[in-house]
Amino acid sequence: MTSDNLILKVEGITKSFGAQRPALSDVSFELHSGEVLCLVGENGAGKSTLIKILSGAETPDFGTILLNSKETHGLTPRDAIASGVATIYQDVELIDSLSVADNIFLGSEMQSAYGLGVDRLAQEKESKRYLDLLHIDIRPSVLVESLSAAQKQNLQIVKALHQDARILIMDEPTSSLGFEETRSLMSLVGELRSRGMAIIYISHYLEEIFEIGDTILILKDGERVGLYPRLAVDVDFVIHSMVGRDASLFFQRESVPVGDVRVIVKEMTWDEVVKKVSFEVRAGEVFGIGGLVGSGRSELVGLIYGMYKRSSGEVIIDGRKIPRGNPSSAIQSGIRLITEDRKKYAMFGQRSVAENITITHNELTGGALLNKKQEAVLTTTLIDQLHIAVASHAQSIESLSGGNQQKAIIARWMLDDADLYIFDEPTKGVDIGAKEEIYKVIVELARRGKCILMVSSDMPELLSMSDRIGVMRAGEMVKILVKDQSVDEHLLIKEFVGS
Ligand SMILES: Nc1ncnc2c1ncn2[C@@H]1O[C@H](COP(=O)(O)OP(=O)(O)OP(=O)(O)O)[C@@H](O)[C@H]1O
Ligand SMILES: [Mg+2]
Repeated sequence: MTSDNLILKVEGITKSFGAQRPALSDVSFELHSGEVLCLVGENGAGKSTLIKILSGAETPDFGTILLNSKETHGLTPRDAIASGVATIYQDVELIDSLSVADNIFLGSEMQSAYGLGVDRLAQEKESKRYLDLLHIDIRPSVLVESLSAAQKQNLQIVKALHQDARILIMDEPTSSLGFEETRSLMSLVGELRSRGMAIIYISHYLEEIFEIGDTILILKDGERVGLYPRLAVDVDFVIHSMVGRDASLFFQRESVPVGDVRVIVKEMTWDEVVKKVSFEVRAGEVFGIGGLVGSGRSELVGLIYGMYKRSSGEVIIDGRKIPRGNPSSAIQSGIRLITEDRKKYAMFGQRSVAENITITHNELTGGALLNKKQEAVLTTTLIDQLHIAVASHAQSIESLSGGNQQKAIIARWMLDDADLYIFDEPTKGVDIGAKEEIYKVIVELARRGKCILMVSSDMPELLSMSDRIGVMRAGEMVKILVKDQSVDEHLLIKEFVGS
């Protein structure tokens, strides 16, 4: 790449939060237009911190940013946007109560002639042009609240294009997307790249990185390991550089003995969302639930947990009937749900890591209260076991990186003695080394004779962890596959789409 298409040069960026090791130390890299730079590293490696600095959400302690031939020591969010940097965060920043077009033009509304206010028609027409340009099938006049997560993400990309962004930053964009939506995001990224956009792409899915990346920037413990042309490296090299040891994309779980039926789900129904779903789970069994986004997977497990009120059907654990629509009685009856949306349901953000880990014991399940010393011992054990990166037990869980938050929540459930553990996307946002740790925890629970239900969009995960896989399609469980040689990714996708 020549220096004339250089668009961003970052030099010697260092950033510390308090007394811990710096989140970033002396990180430098260059980005060119038409380049897809993939940023990879373990949970807590400093990826999000780096992009927060580029989008003006954080200021570096040291270092310089050369953007459009202008050198600065830090940006405000306004500077970043004005310099053509658009960032797409996980927590979508759109206004639900406005239309698609109004969101695209927010802050730069088109005025109609004679001062009659915003020219909605012109905005919609112009929005359609942008949407068409990227082959995105959304009507400009619909309200954003009616869009799916994937559509909202696409809309943010369109908005960035409309703002003349020349650098697009995406932090784990596919972590809430299903298989097909991920495919279309991949081709959208290719399209933007061919239009000369520079893209910084963060993902824990190395398959994606190797598909779309031109260059791979590896961070470890806040330091740059290297910046490599994708064609010069292979997956094993990248994994080794990230986690400092060999790990595999395909986890080989050990099998544990499967016992008697403990959980019976009978004709579970919730309006048109979940229809007459029946299955059983045995002691020590991992029952996977697969399907496309919107097929009713999360709703099904939410119903079992009592998060929603079923219209009819039954859940029976060890002969006990579980009342409907009541999570606290589900907890009392030995059901635990670890959701994909940890911010909303599981995290006590302001409280410490230690409190978040031991809270089930102390408060949620009304277990025996732990004294400070017991709490500290348990917390230390679990933090070591799951390799949770924390500066101290007293650190607030909010200040951990995304993947480490997830590990802390999972650690919580190791501490109590339930019967049915439901994992909804257990390794979302979790790095490849830590995934293995979480898988080991799940296998350990199975070994203790627990029943495991696991919803996952991660095909290798679903295949390697499940003893059986229930396939959801349009609210029904259309098939239960016994995991053997014949069940592979290809077959699963065929079952999911029903062709
Ligand atoms: N506001 C903050 N206060 C204290 N520590 C922070 C804060 N933000 C980030 N950190 C720390 O900085 C380090 C890097 O975090 P960062 O979020 O950049 O990691 P990441 O590479 O994005 O990880 P993940 O893959 O889990 O998202 C972590 O150790 C994290 O705990
Ligand atoms: Mg992050």
